[in-house]
Amino acid sequence: MNCDPPTLDRAGKGINLISFGTSIKLLFSGYLTTVGAGYLMALIQILFTHGMADGKFGLSLDDIVYSYYGDRSGSVLESKLNGSMKYNAPDQERFKIIQWVRDGAEEATYDRDIKPIVETRCLMCHNASAGSLPDFGRFDNLKKLAASNEGATFQSLIRISHIHLFGISFIFMFVGIIFSFSTGVPCKYKYPAVVMPYLFLLIDIASWWLTKLNPHFALLVILAGAGLGVAFVFMWTVSMYQMWILGGVLKRKDRRNAVMRD
Ligand code: HEC
Repeated sequence: MNCDPPTLDRAGKGINLISFGTSIKLLFSGYLTTVGAGYLMALIQILFTHGMADGKFGLSLDDIVYSYYGDRSGSVLESKLNGSMKYNAPDQERFKIIQWVRDGAEEATYDRDIKPIVETRCLMCHNASAGSLPDFGRFDNLKKLAASNEGATFQSLIRISHIHLFGISFIFMFVGIIFSFSTGVPCKYKYPAVVMPYLFLLIDIASWWLTKLNPHFALLVILAGAGLGVAFVFMWTVSMYQMWILGGVLKRKDRRNAVMRD
């Protein structure tokens, strides 16, 4: 099958984004818009959790290494207090907790000096009803995080891997179906755009595990993530452009056919 070259007369009537009826276009656009907003939120989320892992705003290789391989000279508690939890307690109290961690995280000093800080600054989020967050009402949970930071745990990698594999492949199934209805896009762009997200997704998730073993793979995490983003933006833009700019809005009602315009 040949879908080259992109000439205007090929971009005519048929089962394609340009000729679809308004209801289908609205349906597709609604999905693309929400999923685009979701993608944006995911990026912000990455910026605030991984992006703050090294204590500095913005995503860097160090962030990825800290998140997956860990910072084996320190603890999760300490790196979080210098990272994404930095603004939940004033410096003076943060330093007190960090000093306590470095002194060996003893329970006696905890009860005396640290517990009141944790109760006022941390428990509002880190409590028993918080779901996935560790409950700091129990000393054990805090003690565990005060040990050497080995990065992402096996359990957490399993959990985020399966959620991402199922969730993201679903998103790209629908984005890919919509984009497949584009017309006149040269095959050499169209085929890779449809397949690349799955490839990059597998590479991305494999590279989390590889980075857990060896920090050098952190670069692969960023490259695969970026590849996923490029494929998404490309399919999203082409689809919207063909539906609403090339296809335009029909000036009269198209009621002859549910799917295609007259
Ligand atoms: C406003 C809510 C909120 C407050 C207050 C808060 N945290 Fe958190 N904490 C979170 C969220 C959300 C996460 C998960 C996202 C992340 O890791 O950044 C988290 C994660 C953490 C983690 C990582 C847990 C893990 O299993 O990897 C540690 C350690 C932590 N917080 C310590 C603290 C400490 C210590 C305080 C008090 C000084 C505190 N947090 C206050 C919301 C909060």
